[in-house]
Amino acid sequence: MHPSFPSSLEESLLTPRLCSACSDSEKADPASESHNDIPGEEEAVKEEEDKKEEENDSGMWDETFKTHTDSKPNGPSSVGLDFSLPGFEHVYGIPEHADNLRLRTTENTDPYRLYNLDVFQYELYNTMALYGAVPLLLAHNIQRTLGIFWLNAAETWVDISSNTAGKTLFGKMLQYMQGGGETPQTDVRWMSESGIIDVFLLLGPSPSDVFKQYASLTGTQALPPYFSLGYHQCRWNYNDEEDVRNVDAGFDEHDLPYDVIWLDIEHADGKRYFTWDPNKFPTPKNMLTGIKEKRRKMVAIVDPHIKVDSSYRIHSEIRSRNFYIKTKDGNDYEGWCWPGSAAYPDFTNPDMRTWWSSMFSYDQYEGSMDNLFVWNDMNEPSVFNGPEVTMHKDAVHWGGWEHRDVHNLYGLYVHRATAEGLIHRSGGKERPFVLTRAFFAGSQRYGAVWTGDNAAEWDHLKISIPMCLSLGLAGISFCGADVGGFFKNPEPELLLRWYQAGAYQPFFRAHAHLDTPRREPWLHGETNTNLIRDVLRERYALLPYWYTLFYNAHRDAEPVMRPLWVEFPTDVSTFAMDDQYMLGSGLLIHPVTEANAREVQIYLPGAGEVWYDVHNYQSYKAPQKFYLPVTMSSVPVYQRGGSIIPRKDRPRRSSDCMQADPFTLYVALDLQGNAQGELFLDDGHTFNYQQNEFVYRKFSYSQGQLTSR
Ligand code: GLC
Repeated sequence: MHPSFPSSLEESLLTPRLCSACSDSEKADPASESHNDIPGEEEAVKEEEDKKEEENDSGMWDETFKTHTDSKPNGPSSVGLDFSLPGFEHVYGIPEHADNLRLRTTENTDPYRLYNLDVFQYELYNTMALYGAVPLLLAHNIQRTLGIFWLNAAETWVDISSNTAGKTLFGKMLQYMQGGGETPQTDVRWMSESGIIDVFLLLGPSPSDVFKQYASLTGTQALPPYFSLGYHQCRWNYNDEEDVRNVDAGFDEHDLPYDVIWLDIEHADGKRYFTWDPNKFPTPKNMLTGIKEKRRKMVAIVDPHIKVDSSYRIHSEIRSRNFYIKTKDGNDYEGWCWPGSAAYPDFTNPDMRTWWSSMFSYDQYEGSMDNLFVWNDMNEPSVFNGPEVTMHKDAVHWGGWEHRDVHNLYGLYVHRATAEGLIHRSGGKERPFVLTRAFFAGSQRYGAVWTGDNAAEWDHLKISIPMCLSLGLAGISFCGADVGGFFKNPEPELLLRWYQAGAYQPFFRAHAHLDTPRREPWLHGETNTNLIRDVLRERYALLPYWYTLFYNAHRDAEPVMRPLWVEFPTDVSTFAMDDQYMLGSGLLIHPVTEANAREVQIYLPGAGEVWYDVHNYQSYKAPQKFYLPVTMSSVPVYQRGGSIIPRKDRPRRSSDCMQADPFTLYVALDLQGNAQGELFLDDGHTFNYQQNEFVYRKFSYSQGQLTSR
């Protein structure tokens, strides 16, 4: 099959040959009809045609992109399939894109691209590829939800068109009343560069059926260790052990709860992961012990590019075991990344993964302890001097697979091997925590994901909501965005609003670029510190609810953070909403994401339902749309009538310190005077829950009586 890729792929992959083929001769040839009359002209035409053919063929077997050549030893290929979805106007999913929750039609833009890339300063409201890819698309209407899972890890494009795009609701109604209304229809075209067509249709009919059907293929969200649902403090970089001690102490001084402090690439000795800078971090175990005494944890980064340095044990072992990805000529593939010249372990090789996992054992990873967890970054993989900052497609993996075929899977395998390493170091007892930037379908089984290098801008705060919602729909519930924005410097108001929004997103971590001024939560004036303390405390109070939601995600594939339409599937007005969302089925969140906001427009769905403002218990009958006046302390959150939410209301230093604290149940009655809720409880860190060592209580309130079973 010949590739029929869209324009920007043309640029990136196929070079401008198609454009040049139809160029000069046609444009500059007004007398073309008389061509054949001129003697010798026939040969000229033939020559021209041969040339065109040649140009068309160039790029088929090898092609050049900037300074890179893709040798395409197997020749050109592509697979594609069209799907027509009659009756559907709303489609979702296929993360990762910095776009609205509801997918756009792509008739006038590039299709949505799925190709894991380390994108520098990504654009918003855009179909461009980002760090991760899940080829799962959902479609929803008032009768049915369905899914299309296109299981292909090569570069993939998804083209979406619809016969109602661009028509207003009024226009559609008018058309319908005039009897001319055709059934709305969305058409979806999937195209991948290589591989076979392996596609699963998930027929629902309810949203939760689709989630379960997809989970039966790719697995559910791993149950995170309890601490990892607390607040994470990160920056590139905490400079040395003293810096870590001071930041940690700062939280206590300002009475701010937090669970995890993070170390970025500068902590390692010359970006040799699994090591520590001997001057800045000479006594990692002392440092980790200090953190442990506070009942807190640490995360250190371990990236998959390995410094090419024969005195670096990790490198020489991988090389001697022949575990590196190869170039097309059979040499170890080398590229440029943080450490300088680096090679890339072949994580698609199960033996490589087993070896990598063994490197997290306490006797291998010197200076590590059981309260040290891991962050995998740059695993798209990022290759600074590679095509589009990633690996050449003709690089060769274990089993002879071209990188082209498995590109979008690389990050998942890095994540998997690391998570398995943390399990392994504990003798199979402890649940891991690993954060990844690149991902694929199934990455939910290995830990958390974040949305990469965003910026300290209001629009980046805003887009964190649909980005996480799309990930949740595609099975990845444990998601968050860098609080405060990675690049640039947030003004105090933006930083505060980001804390307020982030406190209600599953993975809650502040992070900042190396060149940004420090921004620990107490550096922005007392008022802001107090307001940040309020939201941190809210986060911690709700941890029992978060944890229960994660258990439900783990057991039943329910997204933790979910679009309103998942809970209100027949309410058309919610189908494109992504400035507010549900946490579980009990809380509706509408973070303030505008500068100088005086009010926000809230929509409370559900005919015959009632909602309660969690801050003042004011009740609202639904459905209802209204403007809520807001101040700097406002975080609009509503509890649904009919729900019971477990909390722990005593403020502490970290989640671990709250272990023995009492629960408080917040019972919000529906209009019939009933409510239900649940609570999952276990030790918070081992796999013992799989041996039935847990409590799962269902609470129910009716006729003035609270019961539990
Ligand atoms: C990448 C990551 C960022 C990290 C930096 C240095 O840009 O996305 O979070 O701080 O690398 O490791």
